[in-house]
Amino acid sequence: MGRLDRCVSLEDFRLLARRRLPKSVFEFVDGGAGQELTLRDNRAAFERMRLLPRVLTDVSRPDLTTTLWSKTYPTPLVISPMGSCALVRPGADIAIASAAAARGIPYTLSTMATTGIERMARAVQGPLWFQLYVLKDFEFNRRLVRQAEEFGYSALVVTVDLQTGGKREKDLRNGISIPLRPSLRHLVEGIAHPAWSLRLLRGGLPQFENVRGYLGDTSAGLTIAARVGGNLHAGFDWDDFRTIRDWWKGPLIVKGVLHPDDAVRLIAAGADGIWVSNHGGRQLDGAVASIDATGAIHAAVGGRAPVLIDSGVRTGMDVIKAKARGAAASAIGRAALFGAVMGQVGVERGLDILLEEIATGLKLSGVPGFQQVGPALIAPAG
Ligand SMILES: Cc1cc2nc3c(=O)[nH]c(=O)nc-3n(C[C@H](O)[C@H](O)[C@H](O)COP(=O)(O)O)c2cc1C
Repeated sequence: MGRLDRCVSLEDFRLLARRRLPKSVFEFVDGGAGQELTLRDNRAAFERMRLLPRVLTDVSRPDLTTTLWSKTYPTPLVISPMGSCALVRPGADIAIASAAAARGIPYTLSTMATTGIERMARAVQGPLWFQLYVLKDFEFNRRLVRQAEEFGYSALVVTVDLQTGGKREKDLRNGISIPLRPSLRHLVEGIAHPAWSLRLLRGGLPQFENVRGYLGDTSAGLTIAARVGGNLHAGFDWDDFRTIRDWWKGPLIVKGVLHPDDAVRLIAAGADGIWVSNHGGRQLDGAVASIDATGAIHAAVGGRAPVLIDSGVRTGMDVIKAKARGAAASAIGRAALFGAVMGQVGVERGLDILLEEIATGLKLSGVPGFQQVGPALIAPAG
């Protein structure tokens, strides 16, 4: 039995990644901000929820389809935007996007992706969304959005919870700073993980292709990532939001919303979707778990726009619980990236595990179709 066959849950992929990656790279992906209160609570909040299943409901053909903006997708999964993926394995973005495309799962390409908008669109046939980090330079923002439109990206995701970088203590301790200053520690870690090191040497250091040229900097490596980090638009406000809304004709989703009042105001300002997220516990430490924020947002939005969620989704049951709280689709970040440590086959196996778990979960909950999962499935606390 191969290593991949021995992985029966996404947690198994995480443990495999922990063995395969240098400690500082694994912790860069796995870790959260501050004391990791939010990181832990993202899991704990899912784990606290209990279900009240029904019986005799004919679940012989579980239906996983979900509809977003009058388009029906075969599954309720989305891939969260992630920058720096090539640090885990060269080509990781394309590996994840290809595995997702084969299953009709939308892949969200980050502004800080290590594959550019055009290269990704040429490599992958499936649904692609583009995620924008709003930078101070609006001409640059405009150019990225225009490029996403030109290359057929079908939704724009505007991330609003990165007013500045969260304090990632593990990264600080591990010397994972931007710009990266290679140290003896990194050399020792690299020697201890020769397969990872060889791949990186062959594939080259991560290139942030979308932001090449920003502020006239023609490098695409870690120096430009640092410049972008220093140029996040912390002054981003409602007027700026309306400007971006005017640029994009298709569905616009706002990612990083936790307060129901913001969700309501965003929809009034033209947002088509609300993506409940605390950035996987990587930004504001102490922020509410995404799953705990979802019910109130769903109620406040009142069906005017779909609600999506990420942060802590690791099992098919999490996706069902999120739907019971009102999330039409669940996005996964780390769960996909840990699969990519093993290349595209790893991501494929991880996604199939998740989809099988959703199908089994629906059957055992006595709900024939994902769309029918509602609040009645949640057992009252106590
Ligand atoms: C390595 C890594 C890079 C990320 N980069 C981005 C990014 O570029 N843009 C963004 O909006 N969110 C980014 N995120 C946050 C994810 O989109 C998502 O909100 C988070 O990973 C969800 O939590 P989960 O990892 O528990 O599924 C990143 C997360 C990770 C782990």
